[in-house]
Amino acid sequence: MLPIAVDTYKSMPELIPVLSRDEIERSIIDLASKISDDYQGKDLVLIGILKGAFIFMADLLRHLTVSAKVDFLRVSSYGSGTSSTGKIHLTKSLETDICGSDVLIVEDIVDTGLTLNYLVDYVKTFHPGSVKVCSLINKHENRKEDVTIDYFCHDIEEGFLVGYGLDYDEYYRNLPDIYHLKI
Ligand code: IMP
Ligand code: MG
Repeated sequence: MLPIAVDTYKSMPELIPVLSRDEIERSIIDLASKISDDYQGKDLVLIGILKGAFIFMADLLRHLTVSAKVDFLRVSSYGSGTSSTGKIHLTKSLETDICGSDVLIVEDIVDTGLTLNYLVDYVKTFHPGSVKVCSLINKHENRKEDVTIDYFCHDIEEGFLVGYGLDYDEYYRNLPDIYHLKI
């Protein structure tokens, strides 16, 4: 995996490779196989958390061998910085009736845990049959609340990550690999 040509983007800081597209793909194939085993015969609804999870959600979905409905929620908490403001705003609500369904929340990365706990509580108000959580990345550095992540692909200790849907100030989502952004 080559370091990215840093002058491609506006005033680019250093980007250090963390996960290659091949590593990401392999971990998603494994995860999709586990989820497919666990949700056989269930009424699965994937709820992707916009915007960061849209690429992960699309890849995960295509590797599932069970059928699943798809919906999205959108929350914002970061503004244009690299640390959570702690204030979570729901900016898009559900469009699917999930009452009695088996919901799997699909996140890009869990950091403080604040967003995830907010989302789980929100989803439960619709009385689904079950709620579980899956995240591409479980990041430990800034954890503020205990969270249960039922499925995740990668454990990362620290650093602000970009690429494969993850942004900094709306940039870098397009990078196929994941990098640590050093500002
Ligand atoms: P939390 O509430 O701190 O757990 O953060 C949740 C959301 O913040 C994630 O769903 C991401 O959208 C965003 N986020 C957290 N860490 C990172 C990162 O390292 N890079 C990009 N976005 C991040
Ligand atoms: Mg997110």
